[in-house]
Amino acid sequence: MITGASSGIGRELAGQALAAGESVVAVARDAAKLADLGPAERLLTISADVRDESAVRQAVEQAVARFGRIDVLANNAGYGVFGAVEEAADIQARALFDTNVFGVLNVLRAALPVLRAQRSGHILQGSSIFGQTAAPGFGMLAASKYAVEGLSDALALEVAPLGIKVTLVQPGPTATAFGANVDPAQGAHTDYDATVRAPQADTPASSAAKVAEGIRAAVADPNPPRRLALGVVSANAMREALTARLADLDTWAAVSEKVDA
Ligand SMILES: NC(=O)c1ccc[n+]([C@@H]2O[C@H](COP(=O)([O-])OP(=O)(O)OC[C@H]3O[C@@H](n4cnc5c(N)ncnc54)[C@H](OP(=O)(O)O)[C@@H]3O)[C@@H](O)[C@H]2O)c1
Repeated sequence: MITGASSGIGRELAGQALAAGESVVAVARDAAKLADLGPAERLLTISADVRDESAVRQAVEQAVARFGRIDVLANNAGYGVFGAVEEAADIQARALFDTNVFGVLNVLRAALPVLRAQRSGHILQGSSIFGQTAAPGFGMLAASKYAVEGLSDALALEVAPLGIKVTLVQPGPTATAFGANVDPAQGAHTDYDATVRAPQADTPASSAAKVAEGIRAAVADPNPPRRLALGVVSANAMREALTARLADLDTWAAVSEKVDA
């Protein structure tokens, strides 16, 4: 079952699963965009907005009614807001969280009873290079993805004893409609031109097909990772961010320890 299956990474994931002979429940806001994904006998298409809890519940009910179980759940639907933290309007920040965080939670609350009853399943949580790192202009997106990472770390520990696996999917820049769907912050201020709107070196984008192949490799593995960086840009950024965090811990260890001395 894949949310955000109409475009980009979700669409590739759905196409590859169908091509491999698997059955797919594809979800997007307009199911008309999903009809051409593959053969109707193994494809169920559903119109549901992840922000609509009852629509998501109905989608899960339809999935189970059709296929009897959910083996893999890709909680993939999402979009971005671009601009300095101060520049994003309250309504934009809240709307982003409605899809990227509360939408993810809606999908989890609807599907987890099914996975718990099965005592099996693999949840792929849609994170990002901005799930553990951030850059000027990406604060709101990173806030939503860090939220997904935090809840997923707890979730993974909660559901592991119930036979359910959780993997945070962390693509780097990927050639999809994501950029075109970005909501630009409403309150642009020239003070942020030098950071947020500084000319960027052209970052090579991974292909959505290769990203989907990476995700499928983790699904096929009996011991999938908690986090999966996809693409060299993401992997390098994660390594740099984690190294910097360790350096802070080490440099400030005396102050940390003095608290309990
Ligand atoms: N592309 C990148 O560089 C990149 C990098 C890191 C992480 N990611 C993450 O990968 C995931 C997929 O993004 P993508 O790159 O494939 O972008 P995309 O091509 O824009 O696809 C986004 C998908 O999300 C769906 N969606 C958005 N809002 C929705 C809502 N409220 N309800 C239901 N579906 C909704 C869209 O479906 P409809 O609009 O048809 O409903 C679409 O299928 C996102 O979570 C994104 O944050 C992308």
